[in-house]
Parts: sequence; structure tokens; C-alpha cells
Amino acid sequence: MKNSSAVTSPPSLSLFLLLLQPFLAQSSDDLIDTICKATPFFDLCEASLRSLSPSPPDTKSIASAMANVVLGNMTDTLGYIQSLIRHSQDPPAERALAQCAEVYRPVVRFNIPQAIEAMGRGEFGFAMYVLGDAQKQSDSCQKWINSAGADDESSVPLTARNKLVKNLCDVAISVIKSLMNGR
Ligand SMILES: *[C@@H]1O[C@H](CO)[C@@H](O)[C@H](O)[C@H]1NC(C)=O
Repeated sequence: MKNSSAVTSPPSLSLFLLLLQPFLAQSSDDLIDTICKATPFFDLCEASLRSLSPSPPDTKSIASAMANVVLGNMTDTLGYIQSLIRHSQDPPAERALAQCAEVYRPVVRFNIPQAIEAMGRGEFGFAMYVLGDAQKQSDSCQKWINSAGADDESSVPLTARNKLVKNLCDVAISVIKSLMNGR
């Protein structure tokens, strides 16, 4: 009897430590590092999260912070599209921009704010779906801009912003995946 309990106790101790691990203090910086390394755009992820004050303390707050960065950038891009429309002299470009505004608007006003709220309730699958959709909308916008022949940054300087939005969505989705995997 003594022998068998001596044999079983080391594995249960390591199991205990394994279960405890997520609760052991990890500094927020280390956590951001770990999470950003799992995303496709490490530098962008770090740049988005390092500037926040106070620093988000856990994976869940990092994920909603990242969704807020997406929202901020898309809101900014929508405003920018609207100002380009006001100053456009080129009808095909203007039509493409109007299509962009039409798909960005509901994403910024309703979808992403809803996704951020849903994350608060633990509905991470829904949030991932919304961010994936936001990414598709920025893709569509870019295609319209390209086919209007307006992808030259000097005529419609939107390409870089669409790309940033797209990459930020990738980062946010990947952070939510980390969260769902219990990292
Ligand atoms: C857009 O994202 C970049 C990278 O995270 C960030 O530096 C910038 O402040 C964001 N812009 C807005 C308007 O949120």
C-alpha cells in the first residue's frame, strides 16, 4: 500500500502544478508577449497592446483591448473614406468609396460594438465570426478600389489603411483563439 501511494503521488503533484500554472503570476508584459507570438503579426500586436494604459492584466482583457483597437481603426478608416468621398473628383473612385462606406458603416456602428459586448458574456465564437466578417468587408472595399483603378495611394490613399484593418482583425481573431484555448 505504502509503495503504491509513493508511486502515484509524483504524477498527481505535477498534475496539480499543471492545473495551477495559469494562476501563477505572470507579468502582463510576458503575457502580451506570449499572446502576440501566437498571432501572425507580432509587431503589430505588440504595438497595439503596449501603448495601452493600464496594461490589460489577463487574456480576456487583452482580447477585448484588441477588438477595441480594430474598432478604433475601422471607425477612423470610415471617417477617412467619408472625407475622400467629399473631395473626390473621379466618379468611378467615388462609387467605389461609397460602396466601402456602406460596408464599413454597419461593422463600425453595430457589429464590432456587439462583438465586444458579447465577449464580456464569454461569447467568443460570435466575436470571432464578427471580426472575420469585418475582415471580409475590408477585403471587398479593397477590391472595389482596385477595380475602380484607384488603388494608387496618391489618388485614393486607402490601400494601406485597409491592409492595417485586415491585419488587425487577424491579430484580434488569433488573440481570441488563444483565449478559447485557455492561454
Ligand atoms: C490603428 O492601429 C494602430 C496599430 O495598433 C495604432 O497604432 C493606431 O493608433 C490605431 N488607430 C486608431 C485610430 O485607432
